[in-house]
Amino acid sequence: MKKQLVLLVAILSGVTGFGQVLQNAGINPFAYKIEKKLTGAKGAVASAHPLASLVGAAILKQGGNAFDAAIATQLALAVVYPYAGNLGGGGFLIGQLSNGKQLAIDYREKAPAAAHRDMFIESDGKANTEKSQYGHLSAGVPGTVAGLFASYPYAKLSFDKLIDPAIDLATNGFCITALEARGLNAIQADLKKYNTQTPVLLKEQGWKEGDTLRQPQLAATLNRIKEKGKAGFYEGETAQLIVDEIKRGNGIISLEDLKNYEAVSRTPHRFTYKDLVIVSMPMPSSGGLLLNQMMKMVEDKNLRSMGFHSLASVQLMTEVMRRAYADRAEFMGDADFYLVPTRELVTPDYIKMRMKDYDPGKATDSKQVGPGKLLPKESEETTHLSVLDQEGNAVAVTTTLNNSYGSRTVIGGAGFIINDQMDDFSIRPGVPNMYGALGGEANAIQPGKRMLSSMTPTIVTKNGKPYIVLGTPGGTTIPNQLFQTLINLLEFDLSIEDAVNKPKFHHQWLPDELVLEKGFSEEIKMSLKSMGYQLARERNSIGRTELIRVLPDGKLEVIADRRGDDSVAGF
Ligand code: GLY
Repeated sequence: MKKQLVLLVAILSGVTGFGQVLQNAGINPFAYKIEKKLTGAKGAVASAHPLASLVGAAILKQGGNAFDAAIATQLALAVVYPYAGNLGGGGFLIGQLSNGKQLAIDYREKAPAAAHRDMFIESDGKANTEKSQYGHLSAGVPGTVAGLFASYPYAKLSFDKLIDPAIDLATNGFCITALEARGLNAIQADLKKYNTQTPVLLKEQGWKEGDTLRQPQLAATLNRIKEKGKAGFYEGETAQLIVDEIKRGNGIISLEDLKNYEAVSRTPHRFTYKDLVIVSMPMPSSGGLLLNQMMKMVEDKNLRSMGFHSLASVQLMTEVMRRAYADRAEFMGDADFYLVPTRELVTPDYIKMRMKDYDPGKATDSKQVGPGKLLPKESEETTHLSVLDQEGNAVAVTTTLNNSYGSRTVIGGAGFIINDQMDDFSIRPGVPNMYGALGGEANAIQPGKRMLSSMTPTIVTKNGKPYIVLGTPGGTTIPNQLFQTLINLLEFDLSIEDAVNKPKFHHQWLPDELVLEKGFSEEIKMSLKSMGYQLARERNSIGRTELIRVLPDGKLEVIADRRGDDSVAGF
């Protein structure tokens, strides 16, 4: 195993040691490395944080399966990656069991019972995006803990074993990375503004790489979950702490909302691409359907002969993105509340019709592509983990607080950040939000409804067996990133590093602009402009993909995105 040393967190003064659970697992939370690639593993985890990946891999080594590892990794992320790991958010899981059964578990947040479609509209008719994006009112009823327990029946080990590493990390602390220090420093003013009690994440003198973060209130919450299961979060002391905090900040989540929250098992969104079957997330995520539409729009085009990052392939894929995202804005929302025409949007005739006005060599005008409405802005600060075990179970999980560090509100006494997922609804159909964007009726706020997501945890199967497990954060860029990573592998034959790490691009119909990640040549940028594409300001980074591919001998190759502290672990 070739190890890439990117970060070595030093043991600092003031560290009093770490707990028995982590010691037994051979994990030192004060000295750990980022590993970007692993080849030849039997079982592996790729996630946004080295400690979380190490916890997941330790669970695999102890005889746990991919579901055990996914649960333990998520719990560890809730401690070591407050940026997006969470107890106070929600997520989606796509899984395939070794017997071939496929699962989609939806633990997306829900609008509280007291929510209503105009709750972010002020008396002057203006949408208040501060309220939908920050603080207590922006929070949906959290789903993550229910999701962990909905996936637990597929696991093998005791729940105690899965949660103990997270409790150890919260109780005894861990060293933070330079990136986490920067992230926490960037939200210090917000932490002051949107909290009613001082959270441990607030540090007057600022955070720096190597600082120890201990979270005793979070440890106590994890211990209540360990003791009482799902009820340790949705009822009793934790629920009361959540409701007290929400009330102090004029939010609307009630004890009833929490008690009634259920994760839902759904039928995965499945489709074929050539000889492969792609298994992804159905509504309330737009991800599976968008990926399906886009892969089908290019299936009969010869992308392979166009070549990776050629002008022809970038233009074709951009036009495909434009058409799929126009449909997203018009037709997609929580299918329990709105009739989403999923089947109609992927029939061969419909796909052909959508591509009829595609003109190689010329940008289509978004105004002419369908009558849909503008997209609501969606935050990108989500996180993904991929797991494959030696028995052939595969799990892809994408989970989110929405914005980085969610609503910036920490539940007083319970020590975890609550999400700001209400902003993923169309704040009000027909009324522009602060970004000038409009949202569709399909995604309007209703009590108990789940807000539309783009999260796309995905498993690609070959001959019925997991072949590629992947996903990424990135808000509306997520389906486009999956589309590119898969095309990079399946058509352009890129290595897994290049498929994940090479610059990505993004078009979402409206605004009618093409977003490029830094790294495209001046020549291609000039050519795209001359074809009529409006190029947005280049972005430093788009997403953070975690990908596992099964090699012909059954061993795994695993990659963690270059763009963050993302790291792999396995054996
Ligand atoms: N909040 C990001 C998403 O659900 O897509």
